[in-house]
Amino acid sequence: MAEARIGLTGLGVMGANLALNIAEKGFSVAIHNRTGSRIDGFIAEAGVLSDRFVVAPTLESLAAALPRPRAVIIMVKAGDAVDAVIDLLRPHLDAGDVLIDAGNADFRDTRRREAALLAEGFQFIGMGVSGGEQGARNGPSIMVGGSQEAYRAISEIVEAIAARYQGLPCAARLGPDGAGHFVKTVHNGIEYADMQMIAEIYGLLRQGEGRSTETVMSLFEEWNGGPLKSYLIEITARVLAARDPETGQPMVDAILDRVGQKGTGRWTLIEALKLGQSVSVIEAAVGARSWSAAKDLREIGAERLTGPRAGEIGPALLDADLERALLAARVISHAQGFALLSVASAEFGWNLDLARIAEIWRAGCIIRSALLDDIAGAFRNPPPGNSLILAPAFVRILNDDVGSLRRVVARSVLAGLSVPALSAAVGYFDTMRRARGTGALIQAQRDFFGAHGFERIDRDGNGFHGPWSMTRSDSGGHRDGF
Ligand code: 6PG
Repeated sequence: MAEARIGLTGLGVMGANLALNIAEKGFSVAIHNRTGSRIDGFIAEAGVLSDRFVVAPTLESLAAALPRPRAVIIMVKAGDAVDAVIDLLRPHLDAGDVLIDAGNADFRDTRRREAALLAEGFQFIGMGVSGGEQGARNGPSIMVGGSQEAYRAISEIVEAIAARYQGLPCAARLGPDGAGHFVKTVHNGIEYADMQMIAEIYGLLRQGEGRSTETVMSLFEEWNGGPLKSYLIEITARVLAARDPETGQPMVDAILDRVGQKGTGRWTLIEALKLGQSVSVIEAAVGARSWSAAKDLREIGAERLTGPRAGEIGPALLDADLERALLAARVISHAQGFALLSVASAEFGWNLDLARIAEIWRAGCIIRSALLDDIAGAFRNPPPGNSLILAPAFVRILNDDVGSLRRVVARSVLAGLSVPALSAAVGYFDTMRRARGTGALIQAQRDFFGAHGFERIDRDGNGFHGPWSMTRSDSGGHRDGF
């Protein structure tokens, strides 16, 4: 039986490109797909690489084609399909074999699967792979979660296929069990926030100021040469440059404004809330996708609800203001994402190296940007509470640029343009720069109606109560039906 170095099941877009990437780096790959016809097409397209593949028509033959301990990458739709493949593969495996889920799994599933497989003597890796189709083919950013031992079995391949930043692979084992998939989930949350903020700036320019698609495209192109340099800014310019072959008009104008989502942005929020954290910029981005889906209601809203008309934005904002606003908001949304990673790391005992995460996000992944190199630098000397907005390099940027963010948000709100993510960013900044906020009033209200107790500014302890009975009858309260 022909032997391959590694196995891969699931030849969808990501799986096929990953298989080609692995083969190109010199490793032979046993490939399997649930529907066999896909394999023929894949081999036909593999060209000169085709002799590096061993075709496995069944999962049994996939296992038989691999040396022990076997390593098998599973690249199928996240969720039940992963469990189904594991169940089908398991009878053909031996103790010590390593299964690698390279899809966008919920890290809680990864923890559950790892525990179940470990109990049977198998190894399991949850591997976040970012970079889309091109990344998978030419070098993705790879976030690995699993035991050291399991990673040793595949590290040579993983590091060979990953993107490189200044010669170093953008791949790392970040921690045990679900750590890799959790980090990938937060990556996607930050991705959602970045995309939403870019779309808000685009809306301001197009719908608010009525600038042409070409002008906006040029602006994004220009910004990609400065501190906003990133894959998402770059592709935004390219998207805006594209014309619809059918109408000759900008392609973007022919696309329905209803945004899809597969769930990773929402998972970021859910996990943040479970950990008592807020990633408000990501939340705004996820919410905006849901609102975008309510197309029918927005159409009725456009008829019934009033506000400033498009084009009433007033004197044009300076382009530099928009650029700086986007940079400040990007810093804030990354700060929230990394703060979540820090808290999750403590909660789940992962010991995540935040600088390393920023490093492996500098190339290959969707959120790769110039900013991530600065973030990696900032975490080498961790700021208080791992809060990036308190790191000296970012304090400087924020103190210089939040004024622009403020102007952009204020102008947008007055002009009736929707900027939920940019607003969330400035709201977080303004909360975090006040040593005394407004929480005392909420504590007083809680104590008033529920005797929940509060802390005082001038004494230790937390069981203090206010003299509310003195005021209770004056309030009218329930008697008046409030
Ligand atoms: C990546 C992407 C990738 C995928 C997202 C899209 O890092 O390569 O994030 O994983 O494009 O899952 O997610 P939505 O469909 O939810 O926008």
